Amino acid sequence: MNKVGVIGWPIEHSLSPVMHNAAFQALGMTDWLYDRIAVPPDIVRLSLRELRDHGYIGVNVTVPHKQAVMPFVRPDDVARAIGAVNTIDFRSGVGTNTDADGFMRDLQAHGMDVAGRRVVVLGAGGAARAAVYALAKAGAQIALVNRTFERAERLIASLGVDAAAVTAETAARAAFDLLVNCTSVGMAPHVEASPWPEDVALPEGVTVYDMVYRPARTRLMAQVEARGGRAIGGLGMLVRQGAAAFALWTGVEPPTDVMMRAGEGALAR
Ligand code: ATR
Repeated sequence: MNKVGVIGWPIEHSLSPVMHNAAFQALGMTDWLYDRIAVPPDIVRLSLRELRDHGYIGVNVTVPHKQAVMPFVRPDDVARAIGAVNTIDFRSGVGTNTDADGFMRDLQAHGMDVAGRRVVVLGAGGAARAAVYALAKAGAQIALVNRTFERAERLIASLGVDAAAVTAETAARAAFDLLVNCTSVGMAPHVEASPWPEDVALPEGVTVYDMVYRPARTRLMAQVEARGGRAIGGLGMLVRQGAAAFALWTGVEPPTDVMMRAGEGALAR
């Protein structure tokens, strides 16, 4: 049996097992299995060694371990730039990060070309780092808005990208094409919350990409649609970061549509 999986804490709600196992099944890869593995923070290193010694081919890494696993793998250039690992291949010991790639591919799948476009990124944590890294590479003009302003400045400095840390007011005044939510604000069960301040008018006709995928339609998405904009939820990014890991481990073209339907089905349940 070829074993892969996801480590996190807590891990019960991860959609990854459903997505990957649906892909294995659809392709008749009956000798592959994707596990959900609960790993408390104090035993990350030990767990990685155990999984490798028990023949796991690789794992996805989710909250709160994405930074913690860095010293125990050989981070590739992308993981080093983003400062976080979400996919490990035990055969090579390499840790990579497929979040940026998953985000960019999903934007493309939605027909969004960000080259030269003004993009506002909300947040300054790990998800924002992946987004800013990807957007800068794609040639977007980036403004970063975060509750803790200094953290946004630090993110820009450490990634070494050409971007500005601004307030929501300033971002709104300058206008923009795309708003990307990289905070957890609005995620279930706090579905009434929005990362965009209620007292700052959203520019009309912008597109929002909300990395939150639970619920499928967030308060922020509703705010943007109410201003004549377009809203894209975060499930596609989740699916595509998983698809990239699938390709890495198996060497097989991932059935992205199957993974998407499996994710949608799990969310609906
Ligand atoms: P992740 O790795 O998933 O990005 P993180 O590193 O904890 O998670 O970052 C969470 C982001 O959401 C941060 O930008 C955080 O803002 P701060 O840097 O000010 O902490 C933002 N965030 C979380 N809760 C928030 C809230 N209630 N209002 C505004 N921003 C919030």
